[in-house]
Amino acid sequence: MQKANLKDLYINFFVENGHVQIPSAPVVPENDPSVLFNTAGMQPLVPYLMGQKHPLGTRLCDYQKCIRTNDLESIGDKTHHTFFEMLGNWSLGDYFKKESITWSFEFLTKVLNIPVEKLAVTVFEGNNEIPRDEESASVWRSLGIPAERISYLDKDNNFWIAGEVGPCGPDTEIFYWRSDDPVPVKHDPEDEKWVEIWNNVFMQYERHADGTVTELPHKNVDTGMGVERTAAILEGVDDNYLTSIWKDVVDKIEEMSNTTYAENAKSIRIIADHIRTAVFIAGDNSGIKPSNTDQGYILRRLIRRMIRHAKKIGVDLESGFERTLALMIIEKYAKYYDELEKNKEVILDVLTNELNKFNRTLEKGLREFEKIVSNLEGTTLNKDLAFKLYDTYGFPLELTVELAEEKGITVDKEGFEQKFKEHQEKSRAGSEQRFKGGLAGDGEVETKYHTATHLLNAALKQVISKDVHQRGSNITVERMRFDFNCDHKLTDEEKQKVEDLVNEWIKQEIPVTVEEMSKQEAIDSGAECMFIEKYPDVVTVYTIGNVSKELCGGPHVQNTKELGHFKIKKEEASSAGVRRIKAILEG
Ligand code: ALA
Repeated sequence: MQKANLKDLYINFFVENGHVQIPSAPVVPENDPSVLFNTAGMQPLVPYLMGQKHPLGTRLCDYQKCIRTNDLESIGDKTHHTFFEMLGNWSLGDYFKKESITWSFEFLTKVLNIPVEKLAVTVFEGNNEIPRDEESASVWRSLGIPAERISYLDKDNNFWIAGEVGPCGPDTEIFYWRSDDPVPVKHDPEDEKWVEIWNNVFMQYERHADGTVTELPHKNVDTGMGVERTAAILEGVDDNYLTSIWKDVVDKIEEMSNTTYAENAKSIRIIADHIRTAVFIAGDNSGIKPSNTDQGYILRRLIRRMIRHAKKIGVDLESGFERTLALMIIEKYAKYYDELEKNKEVILDVLTNELNKFNRTLEKGLREFEKIVSNLEGTTLNKDLAFKLYDTYGFPLELTVELAEEKGITVDKEGFEQKFKEHQEKSRAGSEQRFKGGLAGDGEVETKYHTATHLLNAALKQVISKDVHQRGSNITVERMRFDFNCDHKLTDEEKQKVEDLVNEWIKQEIPVTVEEMSKQEAIDSGAECMFIEKYPDVVTVYTIGNVSKELCGGPHVQNTKELGHFKIKKEEASSAGVRRIKAILEG
């Protein structure tokens, strides 16, 4: 089987079974401030799992760009990736366990031709809140999975939730015997030769911040299958980087460094993994650039670590290698993610600019590191030295840790993190100070757009319908973008009215006030909010006279008069039932 087809086979199968394919959401969540990146296919679907009606129906499927960076240090082994694609199919109050399990089984055994003898499954054993999942076990048995290949496991293994709170439920996981050894009759969950390939979550509960679990309005199914791992299984290898997904990139890095994968597997995997993730972050329509905060800092760290490993194995950093590799990745994925082709130049610029920037300090930093090591008493590099490498030479912590490890030295990571936090707080306080004094720095324009977003949201409610809500937003120094639910293209008259209303409010010089309150108080006060369950117990609410009241992290201007003139530049479809407005502030 050509694994290049896996995504197509998957989508075709579920579309044939009544699902509608939805596009991959951006890697940066549009509506959800609680996470930096989408980490699972279900994340962009949270509102629908919670009961909101999805415009495309109750059976959906997709492949979703996912990024997980909580475990950067394990990148370099055979199976970890910072970026991966997750195949998923969903039932939003439609089918449940029987259909879900049957389709998974059919896809694996009939479409991918995996022998049933090589499969085992786990189901939830139950606890005092949620019953033992005999229903799933019985469906599995009816499909030909023998009882010895069905393990009942506890909450830590067979209950799925994305974080602390939100939609969740018991799951059934499917395992494949990846070994040339004979397949044991009985499934042993401890035996790592059984690798998980698919997870079907029966998402019928919601977990709240106080730990309680309640039933969702309907029973959903959420499934997830990792593309790279399934590809490795289908191609019969136990190293994801040896699949055809990576082969050309790995070959290229070998050629560029004049070394072999056998000699430098770890560095080659890190280079391959990190540059792919960097391509997807920089290529996302959200416009992330390397920086020292949030997603931008992840992007920076990935590029820098990739550069360090390239240097380590002898790649010429001035050869344009980053562009060559990025182009290979763009070409490979452009068919599935057209933003990569569209943002190609941006991606290449991001990589090259960051490389040039880091290259200026890398050599000096490495020399400084050598000096530090030769003067070190003991085997721990203290937080001040680690921080100096960060602050002066731009070495992210994991880079210093890795260099140190190679010399048998440990780094005071906790001390560093604490210092890093203090430093960030100081600079944040500094910019707030500037802001209060009316001398706002880089964020001044964006701040205005934040406030304009609230006004636009309020104006749409008045002109179109009070049921219009924000579905996403994105702000750059040049413009604001605002997505909202609406079933029709706005007429010229509607657009004019919205624009006039916003400008009217700007002219009225309305003060913007902010207050902290409990989440419940905010809800009771009727404040607008997209993802109430994602917010902490104490929230900030911004009020603009009696025009607008929204839960928001800010920052905002102090008075609407600061905004200048508001102008809608474009109104277009974003996805089914969702419209998008691009607007600017002039003068
Ligand atoms: N959301 C589930 C997972 O990520 C399917 O495993």
